[in-house]
Amino acid sequence: MTARRIGKRYLTIVMVLAGFCAPVVGAETPPPSADTDALPHPNAGPLQPAKIVIAHRGASGYLPEHTLAAYAMAYALGADYIEQDLVLTKDRQFICLHDIELEDTTNVDEVFPDRKRDNGKYYAADFTLAEIRQLRAESRTPVRFEPRLDGFRVATFVEAIELIQALNASTGRDVGIYPELKQPAWHRGQGLPMEAAFLELVARYGYNRPDSRIYVQCFEADSLKLLRTELGSQLPQILLIGGKDPEQPLLQAEGLAQAAAYAQGIGPARGLLEQRPEIVALAHAAGLQVHPYTFARESVASPYPSFRAELQHFFFEYDIDGMFTDYPDAAYEALHAKTP
Ligand code: G3P
Ligand code: CA
Repeated sequence: MTARRIGKRYLTIVMVLAGFCAPVVGAETPPPSADTDALPHPNAGPLQPAKIVIAHRGASGYLPEHTLAAYAMAYALGADYIEQDLVLTKDRQFICLHDIELEDTTNVDEVFPDRKRDNGKYYAADFTLAEIRQLRAESRTPVRFEPRLDGFRVATFVEAIELIQALNASTGRDVGIYPELKQPAWHRGQGLPMEAAFLELVARYGYNRPDSRIYVQCFEADSLKLLRTELGSQLPQILLIGGKDPEQPLLQAEGLAQAAAYAQGIGPARGLLEQRPEIVALAHAAGLQVHPYTFARESVASPYPSFRAELQHFFFEYDIDGMFTDYPDAAYEALHAKTP
């Protein structure tokens, strides 16, 4: 998509959020709407088993990832859940950032050139929230949104929640949050344990039940086990599974059954499913949902003639339960165009 088309689309989204014109999601499907006479959003209401679209770092295909603008755009494009990757600042504030370091998505090297560690990296855990507020959030490479506008800031988790809950109130939809604890073992080693503080924060916003509109995700099984057992969390949990080996123990029946003791689903790298699609049926047999990551226009796998074809193949042939995508509008359209 050209920068001009993206700009036009973003302007439309802003107008939609302001109530000025019709939304832009899939022309063939009922879009999210605040009009009470319109059809409800397919995934409106309490947590239910319909297939879901998860906006990966917000609408990160169009705007700098994990900014409030990217979250608002994801909301307007029809996402069912919006993802926040979480790291902690030095003063124990959760911020929305994919990396534990700041340099790939902010101008930290310009603002605080002397604050890198000996390895040349700028760790969020070495900065207070007030300091991180002075940074400009930027697109990472590949650059999908070129302008370096001063308006983009690193968002806090609290801001993300409050934005999504406020949009839920103003639109009548019930979009969920999908936070990921990033490297909790590393954070613990820095004297910044994440799990208890995370549960306390989300409970303040009403996320404390098995049917709360939230999925808690992590690559570290030990962190999910801690949340479930020692800390007694009842929230839906997703074990992320990376790597390139589709035969790894976690993806065998026994490994999946073990995961089901503390998780409601798995989030495998999409390539693992492409190599071994039967993982989905195995996971379902273990009682687990399957939410693979990450789908993007720029990385359509070679067998598929189009992005839409790839998305529909995963939704309907592989029978996944949801997907992480940088382009929630495309996933919404692919999903609902074929849903009766
Ligand atoms: O959390 C799902 C997916 O986002 C995992 O990959 O590296 O983008 O956080 P990553
Ligand atoms: Ca993530």
